[in-house]
Amino acid sequence: MSEDYNKESLISSDFLLEAKNLTHSFDYELFNDINLTLSKKQSIAIIGMSGSGKSTLLNILSSLLKPCFGEVLFNEKDLYSLKQNKLLNIRREDFGIIFQAHYLFRGFTASENLDIATLLSENEIDDKLLEDLKIEHVINQGVGELSGGQQQRLSIARVLTKKPKIIFADEPTGNLDKDTANMVIDTLFNYIKSNDAGLVLVTHENDLAMQCDKVYKLVDTKLQELK
Ligand SMILES: Nc1ncnc2c1ncn2[C@@H]1O[C@H](COP(=O)(O)OP(=O)(O)OP(=O)(O)O)[C@@H](O)[C@H]1O
Ligand SMILES: [Mg+2]
Repeated sequence: MSEDYNKESLISSDFLLEAKNLTHSFDYELFNDINLTLSKKQSIAIIGMSGSGKSTLLNILSSLLKPCFGEVLFNEKDLYSLKQNKLLNIRREDFGIIFQAHYLFRGFTASENLDIATLLSENEIDDKLLEDLKIEHVINQGVGELSGGQQQRLSIARVLTKKPKIIFADEPTGNLDKDTANMVIDTLFNYIKSNDAGLVLVTHENDLAMQCDKVYKLVDTKLQELK
């Protein structure tokens, strides 16, 4: 058997992601002995006060930051014990990370920004996705000509175009009005249901969080289960 991980090798009962005993500190301890699992088609919300460590936890779960202690298992292997190129492959192919600040290529059009995602992943741009996100009409405009909310939705479209197994989203609706925010969240929910994927969502909006299957609050270094 090849050692290489295989996207299709998970059986349906397996977790997409499993965090074990995560502990992390910067100047002070942010969280201690946190455990979490994510299954296919499941959405998890993480809420908590500003500065409680939500983004830090999301960074750890999404391969970007090694925790002081603990493991993040993907395909039964700890992300942080993998060789750097394997970790990069997972980040590029399996994980879709939606940052609050969107990293679009300025000076290029919206559709050129999407082309980059299709080049990297060999997936086609999904016109239905652009319609759902209501950006199909701005696709030939330069990124600099888009509104903040349109840029945010474009960056979400770009992440989904590569068909990740897990979406990690940090305040993905931060700049959006309520209707647009709901539309974006519905797009993410539909995506995970139809692609057997999972969603970890960080938000400060309770209403939004409660639409997820599970809701945790990061408080006093622990994850409280609210739903
Ligand atoms: N790279 C870093 N180096 C040092 N301290 C950091 C680093 N990243 C975050 N922190 C500190 O860790 C704490 C938690 O930050 P984090 O960004 O995880 O909070 P958050 O819950 O996402 O807050 P917000 O809701 O405001 O986004 C903060 O006090 C922050 O200053
Ligand atoms: Mg944050």
